[in-house]
Amino acid sequence: MTERILTARMEAHPADSHTLARYEATGGYTALRKALGEMSPADVAAEVKASNLRGRGGAGFPTGVKWGFLPEDLRPRYLVVNADESEPGTFKDRILLERDPHQLVEGIALASYALDVHHAFVYVRGEYPKPARRLQRAVDEAYEAGYLGTNILGSGFDLEVTIHLGAGAYICGEETALLNSLEGRRGEPRIKPPFPAVAGLYAKPTIVNNVETISTVPWIVAHGGRAYAAIGPERSCGTRLFSLSGHVNRPGDYEIVMGMTWRDLIFDVGGGIPDGKALKAWIPGGASAPWFVPDEHLDTFVTIDDCAAAGSMLGSGAVVVMDETTDVVAAAHRIVKFFAHESCGQCTPCREGTTWMERILWRILHGEGRPADLDLLLDVADNISPGLRWPPAMTTICPLGPSAVSPITSIMRYFRDEVEAKITRGATVG
Ligand SMILES: Cc1cc2nc3c(=O)[nH]c(=O)nc-3n(C[C@H](O)[C@H](O)[C@H](O)COP(=O)(O)O)c2cc1C
Repeated sequence: MTERILTARMEAHPADSHTLARYEATGGYTALRKALGEMSPADVAAEVKASNLRGRGGAGFPTGVKWGFLPEDLRPRYLVVNADESEPGTFKDRILLERDPHQLVEGIALASYALDVHHAFVYVRGEYPKPARRLQRAVDEAYEAGYLGTNILGSGFDLEVTIHLGAGAYICGEETALLNSLEGRRGEPRIKPPFPAVAGLYAKPTIVNNVETISTVPWIVAHGGRAYAAIGPERSCGTRLFSLSGHVNRPGDYEIVMGMTWRDLIFDVGGGIPDGKALKAWIPGGASAPWFVPDEHLDTFVTIDDCAAAGSMLGSGAVVVMDETTDVVAAAHRIVKFFAHESCGQCTPCREGTTWMERILWRILHGEGRPADLDLLLDVADNISPGLRWPPAMTTICPLGPSAVSPITSIMRYFRDEVEAKITRGATVG
């Protein structure tokens, strides 16, 4: 089922959905007026908690619960919006930034009011110049119109918003690496605990939320948390943006109510596989996620918990579809190469292991694989993610290393014969 919460405006008014004039003409900033006029900060936080909204950045953590982790007595507090969007296959925050930036700005103002935050930051990936420009323009317009700055709408509430551009590092999407980067340090993940809610930006209590998560807040405040919670399955409620790419007839961003099956998503929403080819596999939630295959998962429900129970994750909502012509070793190699390149290098198992896994896959792919390579590959993977299970156990500070293991366990589980054939054929040719 499709329902428009986040994308209604850009769908109805594609030419100018990003402008303040269009935003105000279509109900924009009424939730902020309502909150500042009639609601206490605790009321706004209570609506978000009641909505059962779960974070859209990857982990699916309940937003209201996370907000509740802020210590009562420590100030200042910060809100940081994660707009790094670097997970391969993910391109959903981009349209929210580019085509409805005021929705995000209103969400920032509402979340900041709820959390007693007076300075919010948006960390935008450096490769997103147009979305960043659109967002900056929206922030400027919001200041001019009195929705940001001092004494917002005469309420006495003050809020500054700063936009910061990253410099092209995937790891800076991990929330603590992001905070280090924002502070001007190397983008390396911090050991947790302490979690950012307790000691985040400049060691102060900080909430980090994804663009889509915060963009949902205006609707929740306008319509009430219970109305949001009533949409779709109980534990995966609301709508969610999915980025469909790869071998589908209609790639793109889709806002859907969770709870449909993967068959519905790939064949109805995505229009099926081009040229009548067969579906071979798909990545359900970004490059970090273990793959799904038609024999086992087409009737699995598209919810956070059903995906987890089936051994993968909905992650960032990036669905990459592979048809029968896909060379799965090449696909796995490409993904592992990405993670090897993006490893920050802090943790030895990730720094060394991702590089070795990439090299082994490369030689298998190029006909130079050895019979012992399969065990070697799994052994290196096991050093990064002991037991090779899902959710992953980790020998690293952050999940980047274990993410590189996902494509390897996926091809070994579902396509081991293809990997072995490449090794045998390579040896014969060589
Ligand atoms: C390696 C890595 C990269 C990540 N990249 C992003 C990203 O680009 N955008 C994002 O919102 N979350 C990303 N995350 C998740 C964040 O750490 C964090 O969980 C998220 O921003 C929290 O927001 P949410 O609660 O609204 O989902 C990444 C995590 C890891 C481990």
